[in-house]
Amino acid sequence: MDKLMVLPGDGIGPEIMDVTVDILDYIISKKNLKVEYEFGILGGCSIDKYGIPLTDSVLEACRQSKAILLGAVGGPKWASTDPAKPRPEDALLKLRKELGLYANLRPIKVYDPLVSVSTIKEHVIKGIDILFLRELTGDVYFGKKERIVKDGVVTAYDTMIYRDFEIERAARMAFEIAGSRSKKVTSVEKSNVVESSRLWREITIKVHKDYPDIELIHMYVDNAAMQLVRNPRQFDVIVISNMFGDILSDEAAMIAGSIGLIPSASLRDDFFGLYEPIHGSAPDIAGQGKANPLGTILSMAMMFKYSFRQEEIAAMIEKAVNAVLEKGLRTSDIYDPAAGGSSLVNTKEMGAAVIAEIRI
Ligand code: IPM
Ligand code: MG
Repeated sequence: MDKLMVLPGDGIGPEIMDVTVDILDYIISKKNLKVEYEFGILGGCSIDKYGIPLTDSVLEACRQSKAILLGAVGGPKWASTDPAKPRPEDALLKLRKELGLYANLRPIKVYDPLVSVSTIKEHVIKGIDILFLRELTGDVYFGKKERIVKDGVVTAYDTMIYRDFEIERAARMAFEIAGSRSKKVTSVEKSNVVESSRLWREITIKVHKDYPDIELIHMYVDNAAMQLVRNPRQFDVIVISNMFGDILSDEAAMIAGSIGLIPSASLRDDFFGLYEPIHGSAPDIAGQGKANPLGTILSMAMMFKYSFRQEEIAAMIEKAVNAVLEKGLRTSDIYDPAAGGSSLVNTKEMGAAVIAEIRI
């Protein structure tokens, strides 16, 4: 029996996870899968209940499972600038770090029925398929940070830090993945200024020697931010550090039309993975049935592909998502009243429509 941990989290997390689990139940029963799942509490709701964002028992249950499906964490209720206060986001960072999930895959795909939804011109984005590999357990996220008060001056600092092996394994996975795509990797950094980026470039060049059939391009992050909207077609696999990847993947989501559509997989070298949409907890629309569940549903598809080695099920979910979009179903983030033939649906309706399109 494969064990799966489901962590809905905060804000819109529970609503999007509800409909995703409905789809999961349907697939498990139709396919007779040996998958068993358990719900866990994480983020702000865990702070409210236990005073901390991630309890040892939830972390342990995650360790014992084959995969984790996560909604979102955070919200204004727990946002504070006080360094001593527990933060929902710390739960996510601890999970990623403790479980060694160093490679965060964020696919940016433009679905044909949605080309007019993006704020970028159609001819620029049609057919775009970019894969971000964001390094996830290093960088300024985990470097030393501190606040010091001295002589009436308050100083705060963070450390942008990378070790060679952290860069090496991320680069290696990027080259491996590029082998089955268009054989092109763009490594994004800021080596004209930042020391850890200089190491990033050095190590990437070293690892590239093992992959002579893959093209490697180096690009500064500021230029990459511009190129992504100028001509995204030049990119296939992008390998990028944790902080720069966080920023550029949100930007790139708008190529696809909405951040609500983008899934992710956080992986290590075995089949274990954490799967979550890249959007946040969207407290402004929480509880209203407005949230787009497709990012989470597509994250579940990635889970079937990478952790459960069920490529056929993954492809089937993606096909069902494409079919509902073809039919014109739109949650509010991708709804354009001016575009004919589409209808506004809520979170549950979108989930139910995906189930209806799944052919088993
Ligand atoms: C993401 C999010 C997280 C991150 C936050 C919630 C800590 O923005 O997964 O992209 O910065 O990694
Ligand atoms: Mg982010």
